[in-house]
Order: sequence, then structure tokens, then C-alpha cells
Amino acid sequence: MDKIRIIGGNQLNGEITISGAKNAALPLMIASLLTDEELVLDNVPNLADVKQLQKILENHGVEINISDHIKTDDMGGQKVSFKAKTISDTCAPYELVSAMRASFWVIGPLLGRMGEAKVSLPGGCAIGTRPVDFFLDGLKALGAQIEIEDGYVIAKAPEDGLRGNRVHFPRISVGATHTVMMAAVLAKGITIIENAACEPEIGNVARCLIAMGAKISGLDTHTLTIEGVEKLNGANFEVLPDRIEAGTFAMAVAMSGGDVLMRKGRASDLQAAVDVLIKAGVEIEQEENGFRVKANGAGLRPIDVETDPFPGFPTDLQAQYMALMTRAAGVTNIKETIFENRFMHVAELARFGADIKVDGQSAIVSGVPQLSGAQVMATDLRASVSLVIAGLVANGETIVSRIYHLDRGFERLEEKLRRCGADIERISE
Ligand code: EPZ
Repeated sequence: MDKIRIIGGNQLNGEITISGAKNAALPLMIASLLTDEELVLDNVPNLADVKQLQKILENHGVEINISDHIKTDDMGGQKVSFKAKTISDTCAPYELVSAMRASFWVIGPLLGRMGEAKVSLPGGCAIGTRPVDFFLDGLKALGAQIEIEDGYVIAKAPEDGLRGNRVHFPRISVGATHTVMMAAVLAKGITIIENAACEPEIGNVARCLIAMGAKISGLDTHTLTIEGVEKLNGANFEVLPDRIEAGTFAMAVAMSGGDVLMRKGRASDLQAAVDVLIKAGVEIEQEENGFRVKANGAGLRPIDVETDPFPGFPTDLQAQYMALMTRAAGVTNIKETIFENRFMHVAELARFGADIKVDGQSAIVSGVPQLSGAQVMATDLRASVSLVIAGLVANGETIVSRIYHLDRGFERLEEKLRRCGADIERISE
């Protein structure tokens, strides 16, 4: 099992190339099911979750070809072609779906194109029970018949296909918005999705669907209007830069001090987090080919945060921000409103000497002058990188185990940090 070893104390200086966004690449790959023509995606990140989804899509009969890493530099993404000429199997089995929850989203395109789908319920994960009731209610509104049998969702569209309708989500859901949007593009008539998520990844997928011939309006708002079409064509499309990766590295620089250009990063895609970091005393400037982060690595101001759907402070940056605030000059209140169990990094951060008290959905972080290196364990994707951020400044050696969590969502993290001066390496034991 690989581990990451860090000796704290080095500043970060130079440039980090931000990879394509995991949370856009996954639904974009799933969109390939909607057409029998070739969909070519550029800037696809080389991640464990992407590889896992490729297995699911190949199981449905999608031909996938990863062209040589055509890159503008050695950190460029992959160009990957997907062709679902025919869909040989409309079942997504438990052993594949349970390994990567977003695989459940294939139910939308399968229903839209094939009129049927048998998809394993994704099950919960470390951060929460992760129900799918909004997905199923949305698909039922489009005319689908839904049965649950032996842990599988068995969905069937009417004989003449799904029908457009009004879908109102009781609370904002990224996955349910992607899934109903991808089911609606081939439905008959108009679908209006109210209380839709409007994360930049949703806009990226909607723009790809439009490039494929879909008719969607209301992009980047909480109301999407989709006019169903007969058929979608292939397209060439680029995955947008990963705002969560960019925000993570911004917090690493804020913690360690230094001056780093987040190449390809778009500060406006994570404006709420950028605003908080600036209030805390970090300098952030958008430049032509990315945004620059400058910090002196000491005495950050404690700024309270509450996670919220976009454009609010992203839940996927909550753990990283908590690590940063362990050394702030004061007390910070961090409230997690999206997931019910997303504080597992608290116990691990405490091993560095951090002073954090959890009270329900809030964590109260009292800044300490110094952290000490420790042996810690990653528990979920974003929590794992919060431990790396703490290790960058902790006195002495930090060893992070179970870093397979990290590899799900961060491409070559230790290499990107080492290039900026961090004393960090991957060790295989
Ligand atoms: C997406 O998950 C992201 N994953 C998550 O990123 C991210 O944290 C989350 O959106 C919120 O931004 C991908 O894009 C692959 P939700 P998703 O549906 O779609 C509840 C990461 O680290 N809910 O927006 O699963 C749900 O339990 C991951 O990259 C229902 O109750 O999240 C949660 O409390 C972690 N019923 C809230 O809504 C439903 O049918 C928001 O979840 C669906 C969701």
C-alpha cells in the first residue's frame, strides 16, 4: 500500500498545472452513452475514478481509446475517444457501481437512449448515506417506471420514450441535475428543471450536450430548460480545469507560504473560497493563463465558513480549509451543510496537535502556533489531502497512509507539490 512521506517547513514557489476536473470528466464520459457517434474529450485527468468509470462504460459496450498523451506540457490531460455505436448491456452491476458512486448516473442516458436500465443502487460512502431519491423522482416525472429489486433500480421508459415535464428538486443535487438533464435531452417535449445545481461542472456538461445537438437554456442558473431532440451527434469537447484541485493547492500555498501560479486555474470558478482566503490574508490575482497565490505562511486571520451549493463555499474544500485554519491567529467556525458525516479528518488533524472541537455540523478550530509531524490515515478523498496540507508545515516527518483515497481525485499530487519545493515523496511499503 503506497504512503506519502512529507518533511514539513518548505515554502511553495513556482507553477502548478491544474488538471481537468474529475467532477466534469465523469458526467462527460457518461454523456457518450447518448449517441452512436464518437465523442472525443480532451484534458481528461488520469485518475482512479476515471479508470473505474471506463470499466462501467466498456461493460455497456462503449469503445474507448486513449490517444497518446497529446500534451502542451507533461502535465496535460489525456485525449480520450468514446463510441457507443450500440449499447450491448443496459445493466450496471453492483461490483462496478459500488466502487465509484457517480457510475449510478448512467441511468439517465441509458433510459433516454435505450428506454431501459438496471443499475445497482450506489450505496453510501464514508461521508454520508448518499440517497438517490431525487434522481428517481426526477426520472419518474419524465414517465419512467421505477422498481427497486435486490439492490438494483430497474427503470423502464414508456413505449414511445421519456416525455418532457417539470422537475423540481427539494434540495440542490449535482448528481440528480446531471442525470435528469441527460435523460431529458432525448425525451419528447420540454423539461424544466427547477432548483437545479449550477456548479461550473454542470455548465461544462450542458455545453458539451449542446455541442452534440441538445437544446438547453438557462446554463449556469438554477433553472434549466431542455427541449428534447430525436438524436444526438458526436462532438469534440474539453474538460474544464478542476476548481477543487486549484482551491486545494491555493490552500497549500496559504499554509506553507510562497508564490505559485495555478496554471489554467479560473479563480471565478471558486470565487467564494477565493474571497475567504483573501479575507484571511492571502493574495490571489487572476492572470492571463491562471491565477497566482501569494502568502507569507504565518498568522492567517480566522474566517468563519459555511459550506453551500455553488456559488457558495464548496463542501469539497471544507477539509482543506480546516487544515489551513489549524494555524490561524484565532478561532474559526466551520459549518458543513451538505453531507452529514464530513468531519472524519478532525481526528487525524488532531494527531498533528490541532485543536478542533466538533459540535453537530460545526467544527470549532482554535489556531495553534505549530503542528508536529505524525502518522495519519486518509479516510476519504478530500480529507486525505487536508492531511497533506497539514504535513507541509508540521515540524518533522508526516506519513499519510491509505492514499488510494487521494489517487481517486488528485493527479500526481506529490509530483506537483515537489516541483514547487515541497519535501514530499510517495513510498511503497
Ligand atoms: C457531487 O456529489 C460531487 N461528486 C461531490 O464531490 C460533491 O461533494 C457534491 O456533488 C456536492 O457538491 C461528483 O460530482 C462526482 P449531491 P453528489 O447530490 O452529486 C443529498 C468529491 O469529493 N441528496 O449534490 O453525490 C445528498 O445526500 C465528491 O469529488 C439526497 O438527499 O452530491 C447530499 O446531502 C464528494 N437525495 C446533498 O443532497 C438525492 O437523490 C447534495 O448531494 C441526491 C442527493
